[in-house]
Amino acid sequence: MTKPNLLSGMQPSAGSLHLGNYLGALVNWANMQDDFNAYYVIVDLHAITVPQDPDELRANTRRTAAQYLAAGIDHEKSALFVQSHVPAHAELAWVLNCITGMGEAGRMTQFKDKSQKSGSDSASVGLFTYPILQAADILLYQPKAVPVGEDQRQHLELTRDLATRFNSRFGDTFTIPEAVILKETAKIYDLQNPEAKMSKSAGDPKGLINIMDDSAAVVKKIKSAVTDTDGIIQFDRETKPGISNLLGIHSAISGESISELEQRFEGAGYGALKGEVADVVVAAIEPIRNRTEELLSDPAELDRLLANGAARANELAEQTLATVYDRIGFLRSTWR
Ligand code: AMP
Ligand code: TRP
Repeated sequence: MTKPNLLSGMQPSAGSLHLGNYLGALVNWANMQDDFNAYYVIVDLHAITVPQDPDELRANTRRTAAQYLAAGIDHEKSALFVQSHVPAHAELAWVLNCITGMGEAGRMTQFKDKSQKSGSDSASVGLFTYPILQAADILLYQPKAVPVGEDQRQHLELTRDLATRFNSRFGDTFTIPEAVILKETAKIYDLQNPEAKMSKSAGDPKGLINIMDDSAAVVKKIKSAVTDTDGIIQFDRETKPGISNLLGIHSAISGESISELEQRFEGAGYGALKGEVADVVVAAIEPIRNRTEELLSDPAELDRLLANGAARANELAEQTLATVYDRIGFLRSTWR
């Protein structure tokens, strides 16, 4: 029996993933590799929809790849590749641009948020068509499943609309993908502001745990996490967001349930909880950081793994694109 395809993507927009990316997304991606024929793409074309320093972009692309491999993406099971290495992404995006309405694209809330941040005069046309490029990423690989965070739901709906529209205008070409939004996965909050999601754009760097932080820094950030003053270790997001976040982080990594943790820590101080959470987090991310450094110390080998991934991805992407070009009425070339 052949496994269904799966595709997901991440931007190479930071030097390190944070604990939320790891527990909220990456752990699932690694788990899904056995049941799906998975394609994981590092979306550098998407990254340039906002200004990027060229050297930094190149470095972050390698660093992102290395962290995904270190955290359990298996390059033999899954194709891990860089978007700009597979030309069909940009090519299919153009075709999809031409079947997308201006109004339809204008309703994307992520565009509205991001263009407001940069001021709509400086927002690029690339940022406007970002979701259409994302649809191309997905549809090239005929995936059944696309695991993403809740914030990507609208982009997945657009992708499904475009696929359905293309299929009905030009004949069955694309699989209609399902968004897999894992509700039960840990949502990790900012250590300094535990009502906000942990995010790379955090106001205070002390609130953010990066996979690439050294262990001493991780311990220090956890020990200075914001809590409350009633001294009771109990899970309640409303009244005790700080303690609840620490319990959530522990549970997501250790697998111990929240109620087991509450029982075990009954009567203990916040210091004891923080100490154990720090141990658990360090034990989880230290090996990932070390493996990432090891992979980065041999960039030629890393680039070779990415080239293999791109070759695998390219095969299927070219096949889908050739069908699209035929259906849409492009004259077939004899050289390509
Ligand atoms: P981003 O870095 O925001 O592009 O997110 C990449 C992936 O990590 C998405 O699938 C998000 O759902 C997930 N993610 C980001 N921040 C968190 C968080 N604080 N808790 C859980 N998952 C997160
Ligand atoms: N827009 C996604 C994000 O910000 C990244 C992405 C690009 C993506 N292409 C994709 C995710 C294809 C899933 C499938 O997280």
